[in-house]
Formats: sequence, C-alpha cells, structure tokens
Amino acid sequence: MKNIPIILFAFLITMAFLNTGCYYDKAEILYPETVCDTAAIKYSNTIAPVMSSFCNSCHSGNTPSAGIKLDTYNDVAIQAANGRLWGAVSHSNNYSAMPKNGPKLNTCNLAKIKKWLDVGYPNN
Ligand code: HEC
Repeated sequence: MKNIPIILFAFLITMAFLNTGCYYDKAEILYPETVCDTAAIKYSNTIAPVMSSFCNSCHSGNTPSAGIKLDTYNDVAIQAANGRLWGAVSHSNNYSAMPKNGPKLNTCNLAKIKKWLDVGYPNN
C-alpha cells in the first residue's frame, strides 16, 4: 500500500499529458471557412472593397495600369462584361495574373467575384 502516492502521482501526470494532447485550439476548426458569405453580393457592398484593397493601387487615377480603371462601378462592369476581370483574378491562360506581383485573391474573395459575375454584376 505504500506505493499508492506514487501511483496517484503517475496517474495525475498521465492525465495532464492526455489533457494537453486533446486540446485543439486551431482557427480552422473553431472558425471554418464556411463563413464566406456569397449572398446578396453587390458592387457597392462587396466588390468595391476588394478592388480598393487589392487592385486600385495600380488601376485608378490618371494613368491606370494597362489603361484599366477599377475604381468605379462602370469601370469594373466593363472588365466584368469582357471577361478580363475573371480571367485575371482566376489566373486563367492568356490573361495576366492579378493582383500583379501579389498573391492570388483568397478563395472567399474569388467566390464573391464569381457569384457577382454570375448574377449579372449588380451595382447596389
Ligand atoms: C502592382 C500593380 C497592379 C495591381 C495591384 C493589379 N494590377 Fe491589374 N494590371 C497591372 C498591369 C501592369 C497590367 C498590364 C498587364 C501586365 O503587365 O501584366 C494589368 C492588367 C490587368 C488586366 C488586364 C489583363 C489581361 O490580360 O487582359 C486586368 C483585368 C487587371 N489588371 C485587373 C486587376 C485586378 C482585378 C486586380 C486586383 C485583384 C489587379 N489588376 C491588381 C497592374 C496591377
């Protein structure tokens, strides 16, 4: 019976290790990407902010890259209609991959642009 404290101690240590081993605090598990909301996508609420964050540093002003402006609805609608917007952001063959010299837009932003194009690129 004099081994009981040692056994108890070993048991507690084991439980402590098991406990830390079972604790998953991973962002992907706690906040899955299903939070990508592609409902009610309009230029004003969704597309304009994406263009502003990833495109307009080059595609706005008096001398936009490639002569392509992307900072008003009418400007983006032109590139939506001619297929170049999707060609560029989806890195399709025969289009320059955009954002130039930057990482491809994330899956959620691409899904939003795709949805917006599919529903006829509404303004607001
Ligand atoms: C760092 C500057 C820069 C950024 C940021 C940028 N572009 Fe461009 N873009 C260019 C340049 C320069 C060209 C001309 C083609 C080339 O040099 O590859 C171009 C070309 C394009 C074209 C024409 C592609 C073709 O092959 O017809 C489209 C459409 C386009 N950009 C859209 C976008 C979109 C949408 C974004 C944001 C997601 C973006 N660009 C971000 C510089 C940029």
